[in-house]
Amino acid sequence: MRVFTKRNEISAYYAENGISGPGFVPTMGALHEGHLSLAEAAKKRCPIVVASIFVNPTQFNDPNDLLKYPRTLDEDLLLLSGVMDHTDIVFAPSVEEMYPEPDPRVFDFGQPGKIMEGLHRPGHFNGVAQVVSRLFDIIKPSAAFFGQKDFQQLVIVRELARRDYPTVEIVSCPIIRETDGLAMSSRNRRLLQEHRINAGKIFSTLEKASIMASSLEITELRTFVTNEINKIPGFRTEYFEIVDDSTLIPLESRKQAASESRYFGCIALYAGEVRLIDNMEFRLQ
Ligand code: PAJ
Repeated sequence: MRVFTKRNEISAYYAENGISGPGFVPTMGALHEGHLSLAEAAKKRCPIVVASIFVNPTQFNDPNDLLKYPRTLDEDLLLLSGVMDHTDIVFAPSVEEMYPEPDPRVFDFGQPGKIMEGLHRPGHFNGVAQVVSRLFDIIKPSAAFFGQKDFQQLVIVRELARRDYPTVEIVSCPIIRETDGLAMSSRNRRLLQEHRINAGKIFSTLEKASIMASSLEITELRTFVTNEINKIPGFRTEYFEIVDDSTLIPLESRKQAASESRYFGCIALYAGEVRLIDNMEFRLQ
């Protein structure tokens, strides 16, 4: 596994080794099995894989969140070396390397950018689009692997690729969970013990609601999920929406559900000071 921190090291290595169109796994580090599952999926499909580790400042709307974001490069490299071959690449640039000048670009993704994370984390997806497009320009992948954990990010990245990178295939990978159902996340290591022991209830609540989705109204489902989460000491729901998986338009009533569409229940919540997101498919018919 080769580790590069400069963009021109990547292009030189590609030229020396005749590499084009690798599989690409963008990450912000603090890696766990969720990230590794993306690298494994990429390895299955692509002879050369590039993983990036870069905590992108432009996607953090909360400066405190950026400051507290875990940075564990040595551990990350060790974990990746279990999945990647000696010819694969890790790109771990500095902020100066990625943004020699501030990025003035403003992206408009329409409805998918305006609700849920787009509403509650203003500027977040603009920062994601800035960094993903810069990374695509440097890595020049044929396929890029993203987790369904960040459901809305996946929709946004698909739209970015459709508009600006039509040759990059966006591959979505399933959510990897802890044994109690908590979706793996770099933020989980910041959970207090008293919150961690209850965090599996996020999954079990979504699961119960998804089972009840065939009979309850949308507002009843929303009330159920919100109440169940808010009952847990120290937990507070920020939003829960059931959205169409391609338009991200939230359902207000069962009558609006189209039989050809798929719907996902998406939640954001605070467990103490740690903000978590999760989602699950809801079958309404
Ligand atoms: P990060 O949060 O590090 O996640 C990197 C990738 O890992 C994303 O595609 C995310 O959806 C996926 N992932 C995280 N947890 C997962 C889990 N439990 N199961 C499956 N996949 C999981 O998402 C970002 O970084 C950034 O926004 C990035 C795309 C790198 C741009 O900065």
